[in-house]
Amino acid sequence: MSTAKAAGEVKDYSKPILAGKGGSDYERYLRTHELLSLQKTPEEQVHRDELLFQTVHQSSELWLKLAANETAETIELLERGELAGALRLLRRASLALQLTTGLLDMLEQMSPWEYQQVRAVLGHGSGFDSPGFRSLRGVVPGLGQAFSALVRKQGLSLEDLYVHGREHENLYQLAEALTELDERLMLWRVRHYKVVARIIGDEVVGTQGTPVELLGGLIKQTFFPELWAIRNRLTSRAIAEAES
Ligand code: HEM
Repeated sequence: MSTAKAAGEVKDYSKPILAGKGGSDYERYLRTHELLSLQKTPEEQVHRDELLFQTVHQSSELWLKLAANETAETIELLERGELAGALRLLRRASLALQLTTGLLDMLEQMSPWEYQQVRAVLGHGSGFDSPGFRSLRGVVPGLGQAFSALVRKQGLSLEDLYVHGREHENLYQLAEALTELDERLMLWRVRHYKVVARIIGDEVVGTQGTPVELLGGLIKQTFFPELWAIRNRLTSRAIAEAES
């Protein structure tokens, strides 16, 4: 083989082939230039921990966006009766929430006193306006409706489904995946409440005037109450059957 031909066969991986900003395809595809300019520069910061605070919030928004997206598609799959595909996406939504909950650990690295400097530049910014959490909260009820419709279509009650779970394997797993998602949402709220209490206190009002106590109350909120209530009925049933 001639040297020229051999050289011609060697691919030049050093040059980007995608369109966009940045010297490499990594930067162009991920749009790292835009992404990494979404945080305040040191000159713009009132406190160095603004980078930590913005990083946690911005990455939370990304994971919540993914959770909402996967949940919305889960509903479509359920409406088409595609249970296995729905389960695959629901697992991802729960994992995205778990990761978002983990991110909250980082906020506890901030000093409560120094955080007051960060808080002073947040305006009326409040988590109630989080687009990620709002869209997730917006799609989750539809998931409950799609699930209930499937159970009804099979002519089952929730109690039948749980007592004879192995005869309705996919549907049973789906019920548990919904419970998991609900639990993950509650766990996020529990962790968030504790972070808030640790950083700004639990007897103060938030940047939008909401008393922090109100956040404590939201912890009990569940999206699928019947999936929790069924466990009480199963325990009562087991006791009644044992006594009869
Ligand atoms: C130092 C960290 C944080 C503090 C002190 C804090 C504080 C608060 C407070 C006081 C509220 C009540 C509403 C208000 O008046 O503002 C709230 C709500 C909320 N925050 Fe945070 N937060 C923090 C971190 C986060 C993070 C990282 C997220 C992630 C997206 C987040 C998302 C939310 C959401 C979604 C709500 C509405 C609560 C619900 O519907 O259960 N927060 N936060």
